[in-house]
Amino acid sequence: MPRLLEIAPEHPSITSLVESQLDEVELVIERQLASDLPAVNALCSHVERYRGKMLRPTMVLLSGLAASGEPCDGRALRDAHRVIAAVAELIHMATLVHDDVLDEALVRRQGATVNSLRGNEMAVMLGDYLISNAFHLCSSLGDPAINFELGDVTNTLCAGELLQLHFRDQYSIDEETYFEIIRRKTASLVAACCRLGARLAGGDAAAVEALGRFGMALGVAFQIQDDLLDLVGDQSVVGKSLGRDLDKGKLTLPVILHLAQAGVHERAASLRMIQERDAERLRQRLLDGGAVQRTRDVAARLVGEAKRHLAPAPPGAAKHLLERAADAVIARSR
Ligand code: FPP
Ligand code: MG
Repeated sequence: MPRLLEIAPEHPSITSLVESQLDEVELVIERQLASDLPAVNALCSHVERYRGKMLRPTMVLLSGLAASGEPCDGRALRDAHRVIAAVAELIHMATLVHDDVLDEALVRRQGATVNSLRGNEMAVMLGDYLISNAFHLCSSLGDPAINFELGDVTNTLCAGELLQLHFRDQYSIDEETYFEIIRRKTASLVAACCRLGARLAGGDAAAVEALGRFGMALGVAFQIQDDLLDLVGDQSVVGKSLGRDLDKGKLTLPVILHLAQAGVHERAASLRMIQERDAERLRQRLLDGGAVQRTRDVAARLVGEAKRHLAPAPPGAAKHLLERAADAVIARSR
């Protein structure tokens, strides 16, 4: 899967700088996961295919560059940036492996999920191995404040997932609860990547805060797009099992917006479709009734909000790339 940065060919020098840093991040991950046990290595090399867009590591690096200002030549990026970028990706990989167990998903990044290949027990343990390695690697920086901050993020992320499970099959779930879930389960990690990238580059408190807010809005927009793709995407393009939200009784924004606007009879019919897991008819209704478009509009507004948080940052290639990344998050079809 192409990395996120393939969106910005107009900045070849910074794009190739970040690309080469991402190659190093991948090496950090490989070295960290290397085990003396071939069975463990085989599992890890399978799951390394889960690295796709590298959104989170890219946010660490670009936020570092944006917070350090011009010249944008990479001197502001330290070893710690690559380590934190690797830690963030390891945390993300762990959550995906566990998420696929919860969602009973068969396909991820155009390949078989660990749970479908090796069963739930192996997938749960592999997710644990990845999260444990993430914090082991993070500890190598010798900065307890970073461990503390990322520990808070993984707490938040698990709590978000628990909240989502709590609201399974609850058709009264409202927009506010939906946003609470996705801020926690997805956006909290993206925001931390932006904050940490900026702080490690010596950004002041205002810059760290602004980039954190950027990441939070971006992360929410990202998950809304993810939820849209789950409903109306093309599985062969997205490359992962779709329709899992409906199958698992998770009501996401397009459905919530639709139910909030539907008349009594329409709402009753839609609830029946949800109960019967009738994805095709529900999808058509969300498209025809405008809920899909309204959801896209919400995501676009969040991308606008994310960019406004970047406004105080001095103009430059890194800032421009962050803005382009924000656009790419909702333009994507996978
Ligand atoms: C994706 O949801 C899921 C997340 C962003 C978070 C999942 C978190 C857990 C399962 C908790 C495990 C936590 C740790 C620390 C190991 P999705 O199903 O909407 O996304 P998808 O479409 O990519 O499957
Ligand atoms: Mg899932």
